[in-house]
Amino acid sequence: MAERLRSMTYSSTAVSTFGAKELADLLTSSRAANLARDLSGMLLFRGDRFLQVLEGPESLVRELVGRIRRDPRHRDMRVLVDEEIDERRFADWTMGYETLEVPRKAAPEGFRDSFDDLDSGDDTVTARALRELTVWFRARSAKPR
Ligand SMILES: Cc1cc2nc3c(=O)[nH]c(=O)nc-3n(C[C@H](O)[C@H](O)[C@H](O)COP(=O)(O)O)c2cc1C
Repeated sequence: MAERLRSMTYSSTAVSTFGAKELADLLTSSRAANLARDLSGMLLFRGDRFLQVLEGPESLVRELVGRIRRDPRHRDMRVLVDEEIDERRFADWTMGYETLEVPRKAAPEGFRDSFDDLDSGDDTVTARALRELTVWFRARSAKPR
């Protein structure tokens, strides 16, 4: 039987030297590595904050999250959601990416200036905000650019 699927979401803060070049490098290497490992997900970057969803076989997701936690390019990593899933939400993305420089009204309710609602410490609020964000991301990223 195939290994169970896991989805983990975390937030973190980029170190001050992290800029556009670093981001481009990170996305290129992450996409290649995730494709090779059957991992999918999305990364949001706004201001100096990251929010990433990673999904795939449980052992691989856990192993990668452990590696990312030790990455000196960011700090203050907090796992917000860690759950088993029946099917992937980002199956089409080795690492979907949005900068969130879009007009704020395009972002879902409660997701305007920061990831604070995701980071609230209240699981219900986090789960709801993340669901809205997932729908928003998928709708946006499906549009041709
Ligand atoms: C915000 C952030 C997100 C990352 N996302 C991924 C990812 O999705 N996949 C990946 O392979 N590495 C990702 N990395 C990079 C890993 O931390 C690590 O550098 C990479 O897996 C290579 O590890 P290694 O140098 O130990 O081989 C991310 C790093 C940061 C700071």
